Amino acid sequence: MRENLSAKDFLVEPDIRRAESLPASAFTDGEFLELELRTIFAKTWLLVPEQDISGKDPTSFTGFLKSSGSRSPFTLLGKPFFLQRGQRAQLYCFPNVCTHAWHPLVNSPTTGGAIVCPQHGRQFDVEGRFLSQTGFGSLENFPRESDHLRTLQVAEWGPFIFTALDHPLAPFHEFVQSVQQSIPGINLSNLRRHRLDAEVRIVEGNWKQHVWNYMDNYHIRFVHKGPGGLADAIDQSTYKTELYKYSSLQWVYAHNPEYGFDPRLLAPRFQDPKNLDRRVFALWWFVFPNLTLNFYPWGLSVNIYSPIPGQPDNTQFHWYQYAINEEMFHQRNKTWLSEQVDDEDIEAISLVSKGARSGYAPRGRFAPEEEAGPHWFHRLAYETIFEDQTTPR
Ligand code: FES
Ligand SMILES: [Fe+2]
Repeated sequence: MRENLSAKDFLVEPDIRRAESLPASAFTDGEFLELELRTIFAKTWLLVPEQDISGKDPTSFTGFLKSSGSRSPFTLLGKPFFLQRGQRAQLYCFPNVCTHAWHPLVNSPTTGGAIVCPQHGRQFDVEGRFLSQTGFGSLENFPRESDHLRTLQVAEWGPFIFTALDHPLAPFHEFVQSVQQSIPGINLSNLRRHRLDAEVRIVEGNWKQHVWNYMDNYHIRFVHKGPGGLADAIDQSTYKTELYKYSSLQWVYAHNPEYGFDPRLLAPRFQDPKNLDRRVFALWWFVFPNLTLNFYPWGLSVNIYSPIPGQPDNTQFHWYQYAINEEMFHQRNKTWLSEQVDDEDIEAISLVSKGARSGYAPRGRFAPEEEAGPHWFHRLAYETIFEDQTTPR
């Protein structure tokens, strides 16, 4: 399949003055999505979406997984996995697929000793090693390595659990260390999770279109224009985009300092030495490939733009919110326009998605001053997909 998709047809030049955007087909073609799932989404750290632990409060997923022996199934990119807490606090992630004849091993959140397959009783220990199965005592060359469960890498960070489906491009800390350094006064483990009405929805547009829109501050003055829009709530002349290897930060001062951050929560570099009254409106972090962490004075809004296998034109959109300050949290839609901005973005992305599919979408160019962020993302996606085959064939 890869043979049909040649690096030279998708090249995004590192120099923004020469670069063209990824072609529209990269946003609409099912084969390209499959290639991304085998490359980008195999080589990066992915946030495990929260699971409903019925009848419990919204923080219960990671809370539940703290006790030893606890396990919970989850689905990521359409594939079945489960998390398992070991005896000495280690957390494991395994495919939820029995190594005998592929039945799922864990069907609901439970706590226990050995993992016992419901189909023919094969048993594994909490580290995923084959223990026993009736009838298999006299086999030769058994158990093989493949009879044990495959162990995926896991990282825990505050209330978040990440996993990597194959070998990640870099250790986990390289993906999030800049985020961590920006918020010395915020303890992620103390954030209070609030349940929203529609935390997971299917929205129009390829997952990269959502990231592109996120990285694009150029549209704020048009799409989120006043009165009463985001464009008025921020001091646009102070907008900054910082690009790191696997993450990026956009931040800006609030128009009204009253709605800005308590400076003690953020790194000192966010203070304006020339005007100490200025307050940061938000830190908008993107972590490659598809996670955004949006820090506001009221708390944190987390978005995952999850590709749906077989549906390049749609994205599964996860939206989780956490409060730092309860009183401000309840003002978030009025003062920080959380919902309004989201609605405006979703509408714009759905229109762009129709353009991408129209057959009339040439490769775009980037305005060097305004669009460094979108260019950085297109280039990083290109590099990650075609890394080992960048020589044009
Ligand atoms: S499929 Fe699990 S024991 Fe047979
Ligand atoms: Fe926007």
